[in-house]
Amino acid sequence: MYVLGIESSCDETGIAILKDRRLIAHTLFTQIDLHQIYGGVVPEIASRAHIEKVDILLKQTLEDAHISLSDLDVIAAVQGPGLIGGVNVGLTFGKALAYALDKPFIGINHLEAHALMPRFENEIPFPHLVFLASGGHTQFILMNGIGDYKILGTTLDDALGEAFDKVAKLLNLPYPGGPEVDKNAKFGDKTKYNFPRPMKGKIEPNFSFSGLKSAVRRIAQEKESLSETEINDICASFQEAVCETVEDRLETVLQQTKNLKLNGVAFAGGVARNTFLRERLKTLCAKEKIPFFVPTPSLCVDNGVMIAWAGYERARLKKFSDMSATAYPRKNLEEIK
Ligand code: KG4
Ligand code: ZN
Repeated sequence: MYVLGIESSCDETGIAILKDRRLIAHTLFTQIDLHQIYGGVVPEIASRAHIEKVDILLKQTLEDAHISLSDLDVIAAVQGPGLIGGVNVGLTFGKALAYALDKPFIGINHLEAHALMPRFENEIPFPHLVFLASGGHTQFILMNGIGDYKILGTTLDDALGEAFDKVAKLLNLPYPGGPEVDKNAKFGDKTKYNFPRPMKGKIEPNFSFSGLKSAVRRIAQEKESLSETEINDICASFQEAVCETVEDRLETVLQQTKNLKLNGVAFAGGVARNTFLRERLKTLCAKEKIPFFVPTPSLCVDNGVMIAWAGYERARLKKFSDMSATAYPRKNLEEIK
């Protein structure tokens, strides 16, 4: 089964072709250069760039895969959540292709795609836990099966990726900020600043990152300019606060799900690229004697592969969408079937 995946919900246009579990070809156009001068994603610029790139990337991906359009068996495209203009580009393009080729179509929830991604490279039976941390979401998801998800914990304010991006902005680091903080933290002293560990010790396995971000702002604004050493120390201390907070929240949720006999913990979403968090959560899971999974770094951030993979997971179960599927800017994962 050849599955085509189309991603366009934020600032990456991604196209991928899977043959069953195997990745045959994929292309990704990242719009970072277009948005960098604005310090964040500008929705209208994003939608336009998706329109300009989507068919060029499709052509290239088919060429790389050495197949033609008529070989495709299933078309999967992102349906939301995300920037609605961009989502509409990928979704409409996908539906039009499916209609023209007379092939089944599947509208994919972007969060579901992130959450299923660890299963692409590993056999992870249900039920298992996913810690999903991206630019817009921070959640513990109990994965009971395809389309059967329960949110066990979430952020009460900023998403973790958003906190990384805002901290980077305060330190005048380039956009997108997460990878920059990660990079600078490697050279910093993590004990230099004692930033808060928000929600640590709370019974509900939720998160809150706005206080942590404000604490960084206070330190950053105390000085007229920051030296490279100070920036590195702030990044390292911020990241240490994040790691300790996530460890505490993960331990809490693992305690509360002990009787569910979970088959593992998977880390997903753009923040799962973070080198420190990957190691720390791996160590924690080893200590708790539960298998830990995290995708290859390039597969953690938005790309077409995750949409194609979620399409494959759904197609296997004949969970197709109909052509009336419309884009949505927000949706709770528990609402999808
Ligand atoms: O999943 P993703 O590509 O897009 C969304 O669905 O939001 O995640 C993007 C987020 C951004 O906030 C970005 O700064 C963060 O993931 N990110 C990182 C790292 N790489 C990407 N955060 C921390 N460390 C990283 N290495
Ligand atoms: Zn994403």
